[in-house]
Amino acid sequence: MTETTRRPAVQVTRPATRAETFDEMLAELTAADAFAAALQGKACTVWGAGTTETVMPARRWLAEADASDHAVLRRCVGATVDIGCGPGRMTHALQCLGVTTLGIDLVEDAVILARDRGAMALQRDVFAELPGEGRWETALLADGNIGIGGDPVRLLRRAASLLVDDGRIVVDLHVPGGAVRVHDIGLEVSGRRTARFPWAVVPADQIELLAEQVGLRVLDVVDHEGRWFASLEKGPS
Ligand SMILES: C[S@@+](CC[C@H](N)C(=O)[O-])C[C@H]1O[C@@H](n2cnc3c(N)ncnc32)[C@H](O)[C@@H]1O
Repeated sequence: MTETTRRPAVQVTRPATRAETFDEMLAELTAADAFAAALQGKACTVWGAGTTETVMPARRWLAEADASDHAVLRRCVGATVDIGCGPGRMTHALQCLGVTTLGIDLVEDAVILARDRGAMALQRDVFAELPGEGRWETALLADGNIGIGGDPVRLLRRAASLLVDDGRIVVDLHVPGGAVRVHDIGLEVSGRRTARFPWAVVPADQIELLAEQVGLRVLDVVDHEGRWFASLEKGPS
């Protein structure tokens, strides 16, 4: 009888090649990844032409609504959609005041955190279909969210389309001075950068002009201890 020797299967562990290491280094960090990392407490820097490098204020978004947030929230009348709700600070505060509120945000981790604190939130793109189209009484664009998409006229038009005929948009603004600016910004976490994406900055003294282009009426522009915001009324079309 011939004896056959069975060799144990050889386990091959392949070391990472130089190409893989480079791929990893160059792997694109998405804005959603960067934002999620910031919400987990990692330092996330906003960079780009025309902007001074700043650290994303995720800690503020994770905190409870403060006095200046409540000054904004007092303008939210009736069923409110909080566009770009992040981890749900404003959504939750409104709900606690007894206002029917839905937060929507592109980033899954933000929506999970919003729900964890008891806010009603959905992972949605503001430019895609949303629940209650045309039936919201207020659309909230808090914390610089007028910058979403880098085209404030398009965003205000979209927000207005979500509203009832006499609905309103409550929008945080930049301090007065200068023109509406659109920056190509990126985010950086642990030395990895996202691709650039457009983000708009709207000074408070420019909102009248923008509102006019969209067919909205400015109800008020408020300076609450240096935080500027406005209420815009839709009016019958
Ligand atoms: C400046 S942060 C706002 C933080 C939030 N208001 C808070 O209190 O925590 C901008 C938010 O807008 C969201 N966002 C960006 N583009 C969006 C889009 N197209 N649709 C919905 N949300 C978007 C981001 O994911 C991010 O959570």
